Amino acid sequence: MKLWSGRFGKETDALVNDFNASIQFDQRLYKEDITGSLAHAKMLGDCGIISQEDVTAITEGLKGILADVEAGKVEFTADNEDIHMNVEALLTARIGDAGKRLHTARSRNDQVALDFRMYVREQIPVIVDQLLELETVLCKQAKQYQTAVMPGYTHLQRAQPISFAQHLMAYANMFARDITRLEDCKKRLNECPLGSGALAGTTYPIDRWETAQDLGFDAPMSNSLDGVSDRDYALELMSALSILMMHLSRFSEEVILWCSWEFKFIELDDAYATGSSIMPQKKNPDVAELVRGKTGRVYGDLMSLLTAMKGLPLAYNKDMQEDKEPVFDAIDTVEMCVPVFTAMLDTMTVRTDNMRKAAGKGFINATDCADYLTKKGMPFRDAYTVTGHLVAACTAQGKTLEELTLEELKAVSDLFEEDVYDAINLENCMALRNSYGGPAVSETTRQIGAIEAFVKAHTK
Ligand code: ARG
Repeated sequence: MKLWSGRFGKETDALVNDFNASIQFDQRLYKEDITGSLAHAKMLGDCGIISQEDVTAITEGLKGILADVEAGKVEFTADNEDIHMNVEALLTARIGDAGKRLHTARSRNDQVALDFRMYVREQIPVIVDQLLELETVLCKQAKQYQTAVMPGYTHLQRAQPISFAQHLMAYANMFARDITRLEDCKKRLNECPLGSGALAGTTYPIDRWETAQDLGFDAPMSNSLDGVSDRDYALELMSALSILMMHLSRFSEEVILWCSWEFKFIELDDAYATGSSIMPQKKNPDVAELVRGKTGRVYGDLMSLLTAMKGLPLAYNKDMQEDKEPVFDAIDTVEMCVPVFTAMLDTMTVRTDNMRKAAGKGFINATDCADYLTKKGMPFRDAYTVTGHLVAACTAQGKTLEELTLEELKAVSDLFEEDVYDAINLENCMALRNSYGGPAVSETTRQIGAIEAFVKAHTK
């Protein structure tokens, strides 16, 4: 018999029973549900709403259920619809009338709002810790490749010289913002919905500050309709996770390119690559491809909840039961992707020789050549045009700028002197880009130090 069967004259249809139930997926909230109930029962006792004997019986009963669930001894059932009613039914079966008093001054609507909020709150530090580990690996790798010249790209065309360290630290900065976005989300969600009732609070003299404090919240939520109705914290989490996955996906795309024979900037460790069932020569970057692919899935999770919420009148609507699977899926996906991606980067071999070779082609020192002429007094626009002519001539002859003789250079401008070769030497071109944020070793050293300090400050 259903806990709510009082006003019904018939049994629920079997199809409806299964259709309506959420226990298949919300059983993952068992701990939050029991924790919330423990706090609620204590508060009911402290406020004189139920007796201390009942509080003791409920507390012991709930602790027993928690232990049994964790020991795998409890079978949940769709007949009890969701985790909230499953726990309550188990409790009443075990302790009798005291169990039936637990739901005084409370609704499942505020239970679900509370449990889900606490679940999200607990997962944020898990993801943050994984990201801090990723940051540590990025710093470790970057430190080894501060002088490793590689071509920086725009439009996937070789553009200007950078170092592999600077490229890695670009991502480290993005992930640092992902971490602070997650931390912001945690700060904002930390208000307690429990005590909102079904939607309109309660006539019982409850103490919402007590439950809020016992459950580690900063305060109770200010409005009971808001308390049971909004899921913005879950959307905020999934937005932050979507942005994080977008960063991981771009990085994955580069890893995939770098692994190709056309680039060969890195080689993945055998433990983090996979083979082909037919082509014996293949070593595929499946981890990076899956991370890129799973990004779409996390975006889908975000879209699915945004869409579910957009037309809902206040307060609770059953549509909101659709909030959990996308959030669980987004969290599970991210928690799988980040550690495997980190390990893949940690174990890769970096082919600085191929990076340097690629940097040698593609005229990535053309800007430096134009800057050289500008520093000798030629207006930048003219210097740009002169260098463009040199590039065209080099392309026709299959040469690089530094392979042109001084006579060939002087033929287009007599400002060229012997020192031009230093100015367009790739190592110098990179080393001289020491403006704040640039690839020069002094700057990558500063960037690595800043991220290391960030990691330290955010490690609990
Ligand atoms: N299983 C429900 C959910 O996940 C719990 C709240 C149900 N409340 C209700 N009045 N039907 O949203």
